[in-house]
Amino acid sequence: MQTKIGIIGGSGLYEIDGLQDAEWIEIDSLWGAPSDAVLSGVLNGIPMVFLPRHGRGHVHSPTTVPYRANIDALKRIGVTDVISVSACGSFREEMAPGDFVIVDQFIDRTFAREKSFFGTGCVAHVSVAHPTCPRLSDVCETAAKDAGVTVHKGGTYLAMEGPQFSSQAESNLYRDVWNCDVIGMTNMPEAKLAREAELCYASVAMITDYDSWHPDHGAVDVSDVIKTLQDNGTKARDMVTRLPELLGSERDLCPHGCDRALEYAVMTAPE
Ligand code: ADE
Repeated sequence: MQTKIGIIGGSGLYEIDGLQDAEWIEIDSLWGAPSDAVLSGVLNGIPMVFLPRHGRGHVHSPTTVPYRANIDALKRIGVTDVISVSACGSFREEMAPGDFVIVDQFIDRTFAREKSFFGTGCVAHVSVAHPTCPRLSDVCETAAKDAGVTVHKGGTYLAMEGPQFSSQAESNLYRDVWNCDVIGMTNMPEAKLAREAELCYASVAMITDYDSWHPDHGAVDVSDVIKTLQDNGTKARDMVTRLPELLGSERDLCPHGCDRALEYAVMTAPE
């Protein structure tokens, strides 16, 4: 099967360097309109599409991002591997602003978003015990390291609803009691939906701040986030340009079964 890479770019990643034959394509979805058209092209010989998670001009808040339509759009256009790039805060001293974390676990505290393609008419329960694809995560780690980034492999991401940042008490709870490593507003339900859509999914979280727990750093604000992202946009784009060669143009079945996630998940009897 031919690899087709889908990049969901968040705050800090708004374009792909060197994408050839690039054109914006509108994709219809039964789940409503995606955040934006997708930029489709070829990078280093491999088809790639880019979807700006918040839309061009950053018009969707984390709550209003149409996550189902976005994942459906990527599935419909033939994407096999989804790489999520997003900003996050850090709960660990050693995970510093400017570093990237290849997230492998989530605690989903979002509550105002549609979280499944299934429901009335067709009921399914997919496993998200291991919500990211280890094979794709390894590739992202290598690409980020080759781009000169300090990378932390593995980390638990607290997905919060937002749009406000956390209080200091929440920040301490997530860090000290729940043992989370980073916090962000967008990776859920995106990762769950990618699994339901049987897509390999990896999350590259770019640290912009220490949230509000750190005694030597003030409370996070948007100017911190934007400043660190501006410094890191180039590294994120460099990482993306390295992905095609590492992934290769042909792919087998996912060794971790991401592409067969529904095999034992559907409860509703076929008609
Ligand atoms: N995105 C970037 N920094 C964040 C933080 N501290 N909390 C939630 N989302 C973020």
